[in-house]
Amino acid sequence: MSSQYLGYPNEFAKEPMPTNEMVALCKEHTLYTWSAGNTVNPLPIARAEGVYLWTPEGQKILDFNAQLMSVLVGHAHPRVIAAMKRQLDELIFVYPQTATQVRARLGKLLSEIVPGMSSFFFTLGGAEANENAVKMARLFTGRNKVLARYRSYHGGTQLTMSLTGDPRRWASEPASPGIIHVMDPTPYEFNFGKTDEERCANHLTYLEETIKMEGGHTIAAMIVETVTGTNGVLVPPKGWFKGLRALLDKYGILLICDEVMAGMGRTGKMMAYEHFDVVPDLVTMAKGLTSSYFPLGAVGMKKAIHEHFQKNVYWGGLTYNSHPVGLATAEAVLRVTIDEKLVDNSAKLGAVMRSEMDRLQKKHVSILEGRNIGLFGMIDLRKNSKNEPLAPYNGSHPVMPKLATFFRDNGLFTFTRWNNFTCNPPLTITEAQLKEGFAIIDRALELTDAVFEG
Ligand SMILES: Cc1ncc(COP(=O)(O)O)c(C=O)c1O
Repeated sequence: MSSQYLGYPNEFAKEPMPTNEMVALCKEHTLYTWSAGNTVNPLPIARAEGVYLWTPEGQKILDFNAQLMSVLVGHAHPRVIAAMKRQLDELIFVYPQTATQVRARLGKLLSEIVPGMSSFFFTLGGAEANENAVKMARLFTGRNKVLARYRSYHGGTQLTMSLTGDPRRWASEPASPGIIHVMDPTPYEFNFGKTDEERCANHLTYLEETIKMEGGHTIAAMIVETVTGTNGVLVPPKGWFKGLRALLDKYGILLICDEVMAGMGRTGKMMAYEHFDVVPDLVTMAKGLTSSYFPLGAVGMKKAIHEHFQKNVYWGGLTYNSHPVGLATAEAVLRVTIDEKLVDNSAKLGAVMRSEMDRLQKKHVSILEGRNIGLFGMIDLRKNSKNEPLAPYNGSHPVMPKLATFFRDNGLFTFTRWNNFTCNPPLTITEAQLKEGFAIIDRALELTDAVFEG
């Protein structure tokens, strides 16, 4: 076979292929996610460092979404790369029923920094972490049903799509059995009350009634994104988590916090549940756990659950469970997070993000609301003074693709969806870089102001 049939140029090619050829081959021979391939306009990227990306043509782009809200320590962090290389030299892969230095070190480290969790089960990403957390809850309680919320995303596998409340679930239905969706305490077009106190009381009453109708003794767990991510960066009302914990305890239902997006410092605390003075029974992590340098997820569990699986079989496993290179990556990322005080930086610059959002809201009529907790932020846009969203739920508006193009042409990488866009830079960002991002947003919002209907 001549080399052209083997996909020449190969991995040792000296020259990069032209950008248009690279894009064309990616589109022709690989499948893109969550979209019809013909509509995808992939961003060609040659390299990344710190909070910036570079196209092959040398355009510098500020990464205002840490890719998938996940590159928390910034791109190409030398300490993480060094740890990964060291692990590659030392030991790349052994099967999960082995003991390794790195597994011992990371398990211990996580037990110290993830409050209330004594043991960890490693997966390849967030969806698998949620799959396993639900399985653990079911095996531990001997019950089957799971409560989940509508404004949530939990992953792209069949079970986690079924747990997901947003429109990404619809194409995977009929869903896995036993999942009950409930409204969030802060739904979009319905209000549980005017004050946090009212919202908590009414929502928890509604939830208890649902639990009674379903039969509390049949429900294994409730899964919640501690701070809802893609569906709004929604911080629960004050007091809600404590009330939820008490309600679930009353019925022996476990609490699973999905911190795949909110965890590892994003919100200004290592784990988002630390803001709310609760400890879940199980917590899931991924994304920031390795800053996406390597695919890795984890389920953290309380001592009682760990002890249960010391005596009873855990009916779950993965070829790549506890992959040494993934674990070494996570260890280095967490050490960087601690040593460079990135959690503090997230909290500190969260205040700057808040003031930038407030500044822009005063200036731009099209802003409906900016929300953030630490460096986890989103801005909603409106189309009129009645506060109607610029685009409907799961819909768009002709100006939204223009906004996305403006960001891209002006050197800002972020996500636009429906009537919102995200503000989730790496936690290593400086105040000046954060302001640089908001300066581009400031100019971009002239586009959405221009279609404001008054
Ligand atoms: C809250 C949440 N849970 C779970 C997942 C799924 O993680 P993964 O894509 O690593 O499977 C995501 C991914 O975006 C997420 O944001």
